[in-house]
Amino acid sequence: MKAEFVISAVKPEQWPQEGLPETVVVGRSNVGKSSFINALTERKKLAYVGNTPGKTRLINFFRIDERWMLVDVPGYGYAKMSKKMLMEMGRMMDTYFQQRQEIACVVQLVDARHDPTQDDIDMMEYLQALHLPILVAATKVDKVPKTKRVRAIKNISQILHIPVKSVYPVSSTEKTGFEEVRNRIDTFIQR
Ligand code: GTP
Ligand code: MG
Repeated sequence: MKAEFVISAVKPEQWPQEGLPETVVVGRSNVGKSSFINALTERKKLAYVGNTPGKTRLINFFRIDERWMLVDVPGYGYAKMSKKMLMEMGRMMDTYFQQRQEIACVVQLVDARHDPTQDDIDMMEYLQALHLPILVAATKVDKVPKTKRVRAIKNISQILHIPVKSVYPVSSTEKTGFEEVRNRIDTFIQR
């Protein structure tokens, strides 16, 4: 997979104008979005992975195989950020989701170890209201004991009200589950 950084955009004028279909990765702060992007593209440092949450503050575009874009956006639900910062980020994201015609699908990440939070449910409802194709990836599944994984995935699908086959368990540290996600994304970006 060829992957190249395009731009960190603050405002719509900076969004790439190549017209490539986009796959957006959303999720709570620290859920593993940047790690997911690196593992999906088989790069070590394409997206910045941080130990402190709230590292990604802009909309980052990565061109994949000269055919589609992978988009890394700021995480939601990070309480320690200032109100002003949260407002600005929320507005930037809303503008993107409302206006961007190129969005082909959204990958919503949730933590495999926990029930989806109210923030996760709100995000899912927001995306569904926009009629965007959504798939869910349950991250950090390496931290869930093997015998509890099926139950965990089922649980997530029930809380988010989506089919269990739309929830993909992944581990960015163990690099598992990404082939399935890649194949699913492919069905959305083909046109
Ligand atoms: P923000 O940009 O701050 O919103 O965070 P993010 O969602 O991009 O998360 P990031 O990829 O930076 O990862 C957050 C932390 O979780 C890092 O310490 C990662 O090493 C860790 N992490 C991410 N994915 C996995 C995974 O699949 N398994 C395990 N064990 N740890 C992971
Ligand atoms: Mg990040």
